[in-house]
Amino acid sequence: MRSDLVCFNPACRARYRITAVLYNCSKCGGLLEARYDFGRPDVDALKRTWRERRMSNAPLDQSGVWRYRELFPFIEDDRHIVTLREGNTPLLNAPRSADYGGLDGLTFKHQGFNPTGSFKDNGMTGGVAQARLLGMKRVACVSTGNTSASMAAYASAGGLEPLIFIPHGNISYGKLAQALEYGAKTFQVDANFDQILALVRVLAERLGIYLLNSINPFRIEGQKSIVIEMMDQRDWRVPDWIVLPGGNLGNVSAFGKGLREMHCLGLIDQLPRLAVVQAEGASPFYEYMRDTALEPFRAQEHPETLATAIKIGDPVSWPKAQFEIESTNGAVERVTEQEIADAKAIIGLSGIGCEPASAATLAGIRKLTGAGVISRDADVVAVLTGNVLKDPDYIYRYHTGELKAPDGSPIVATFGNRPIVVPNDAERIAELIR
Ligand code: F0G
Repeated sequence: MRSDLVCFNPACRARYRITAVLYNCSKCGGLLEARYDFGRPDVDALKRTWRERRMSNAPLDQSGVWRYRELFPFIEDDRHIVTLREGNTPLLNAPRSADYGGLDGLTFKHQGFNPTGSFKDNGMTGGVAQARLLGMKRVACVSTGNTSASMAAYASAGGLEPLIFIPHGNISYGKLAQALEYGAKTFQVDANFDQILALVRVLAERLGIYLLNSINPFRIEGQKSIVIEMMDQRDWRVPDWIVLPGGNLGNVSAFGKGLREMHCLGLIDQLPRLAVVQAEGASPFYEYMRDTALEPFRAQEHPETLATAIKIGDPVSWPKAQFEIESTNGAVERVTEQEIADAKAIIGLSGIGCEPASAATLAGIRKLTGAGVISRDADVVAVLTGNVLKDPDYIYRYHTGELKAPDGSPIVATFGNRPIVVPNDAERIAELIR
């Protein structure tokens, strides 16, 4: 099957070999994406094959990414693929969260069930496969935490050397601990995510290291599988809305691409609307989309949010994200620190739990239903991007009333649940339980 890297800029559309080591178009600097000549496959046969693979013991069939390999056929030799059985994440009904969000019903697709606890694993297995196919020995990324944890795991599992760069003091310990445990050489840099990305791009070029940030088109290919698996799990019934948090905007770009391809192939009969939610202190995309006359895109120099995963002021994939939001008639919202914290506690009370950035979804849904953008009876899937244990410090502080916003103002523990200190005394404890 023919596959190429194609410039995303409609005025350019330069084509490159699929094996080119490129992150931007050499002609215009635009973003790149993988394009395939899918022909006209028998979609019913494909759906049957994907179902049958769920019964298989073959590693690639057990992966919730590579099970759908016909839709990202950039790898011709399976031996390059490293799988930790990523994907396979559940759809969970959450009535209590639905009620809080102003909806009759709400489903979470919980990407925190992945091997390293975040949606990054779906994309990383794609990026690492391409790194191995290209014969790369070292891979690098800058990260707010989850990408680095994921890259460290997949690179180490695949015999590559992982080099990770993180903003010093600004990622959660859970994520940093994972990177160390998975054997990544870890550089803590005194700069923010956007500044470090520029640095890593220079180093990658100079030292011949393969860059595995979401600007890498093969990460995006792997991440498409999140929406493919979602549709398969829903027997190909398309929801009205898919809601997700936005940081560097790779994920919404991947969702949009996956949905468009499924639509073109006839796997789904319509497109859902995509809604991206940003934290108020790191919301350059929200501001840009609110007022598209605000050309050119303006980066935020000092992004701030306790949801450190999405603390990004200069998201590289904004042109793709804009295209996907506009072509699905979607929406962009932003939410405060308090709104994120409370929504997170509600997701916890639903018995589900997630990390702070993921909770921006429910906070955003609450606002979008309040504004009448999403209707109460809409069929909505919100994507929880990371596991509850990624950032336990935040949780403890919230429930004990110690959490403070980046500007120092206190976050109210609206749904706080303090641990109770008791003496070793059955009578006294019994009184407290009664
Ligand atoms: N949610 C979580 C838990 C994340 O870790 C990220 C991004 C996002 C949402 C936003 O996704 O960037 O595709 O818009 N984390 C990256 C990282 C930046 O380095 O781990 P996005």
